Amino acid sequence: MSAKVIACDVGYGFVKAVSDTGSRVVFPSLVAPDRGDSLGVGDLFGRPPGHTVSLRPPGGGAESYLVGEAARASFLASGFLGAEKPAEMHDVLLLAACYLAGAGSEGHLPGQVPRLAVGLPLALYRPQRDALRERLSRLAAWASVDGGPERYFSFREVRVYPQGVGVVFAQDGLPGHGFAGIIDVGHLTVDYLLVDLEAGRPVPEASGSLEVGCHLLAKEVARAFREAAGEPLPHRLEGYVLRAAAEGRPVGYRGRELDLSRAYREAAAEVATAVSKQVLSAWADWAKFITLTLLAGGGALALGAELARSLPSARVVDDPTFANALGFLRMASR
Ligand SMILES: Nc1ncnc2c1ncn2[C@@H]1O[C@H](COP(=O)(O)OP(=O)(O)OP(=O)(O)O)[C@@H](O)[C@H]1O
Ligand SMILES: [Mg+2]
Repeated sequence: MSAKVIACDVGYGFVKAVSDTGSRVVFPSLVAPDRGDSLGVGDLFGRPPGHTVSLRPPGGGAESYLVGEAARASFLASGFLGAEKPAEMHDVLLLAACYLAGAGSEGHLPGQVPRLAVGLPLALYRPQRDALRERLSRLAAWASVDGGPERYFSFREVRVYPQGVGVVFAQDGLPGHGFAGIIDVGHLTVDYLLVDLEAGRPVPEASGSLEVGCHLLAKEVARAFREAAGEPLPHRLEGYVLRAAAEGRPVGYRGRELDLSRAYREAAAEVATAVSKQVLSAWADWAKFITLTLLAGGGALALGAELARSLPSARVVDDPTFANALGFLRMASR
């Protein structure tokens, strides 16, 4: 059965999508042109990680891309660098996620996907939501992922929601009285909300976005690598070295063992301190009346323990990485 409602959180670090049929998809927000299997040995090693995506506008020619892990090894890989999300890259990631989550239709007279929900950081919500909704409403393309059959994508209704608000709707009601804090810790951004539990709505003066996130961990580990190795860390090996540092393992380099786990832990503590200071300052005197702080986003897995130390009654939500997407799905299903 084709998905009728699909919620897609195209983050600066990872794309997360969920559908009304129960599918879940997550992959890094990376895209590269697909130049084929240059060595011709790929088949010998089973299916590689990541995806190949082919997109064809109605009546046009197809373009092929590597998406997610598959793009990481390419010199031509691009991720989102600054606050801007270039439309072409955004849409390749979005359509790949929608396909993998089971949306789209095949055949000569394909139908539209009934409903798509996407998010925007709180700070960009008002200025950009209408333009994003209009652009995605006009999007139409045939897509094939990992060599599967072509499916047509066009969205009958597009809803745009603010990040962080998704986290609230992903919970089965917020307990208690007073105020609740919500923090969505992402790759490049942190969204924070203060919810007045009696009024059942956010307090705008105490909600917003910060330009800080988990990419700073990668930056610090790369700096520590440069110091320890005396050479820069090649960009495409950043993920490998970061994972080792996060898991407390050394990496072998030119016959030496480089242990960057301390640099990682120190960076995590620093980033968590920066986040909690800025959020507490925005929450001002409300902070003392907060009975619950919910931590979400993939960053809650990296920084949750550190953040919980300095924020009032904090806990990491179930499924923090998918919290926004699951909340968008609930909101869009109404
Ligand atoms: N299992 C994990 N353990 C530790 N850290 C993790 C884990 N999963 C994700 N992260 C961290 O979370 C970050 C990504 O989180 P998330 O997917 O919420 O970001 P995003 O939504 O792409 O970013 P943004 O909200 O800024 O657009 C990654 O940078 C990574 O460092
Ligand atoms: Mg996010």
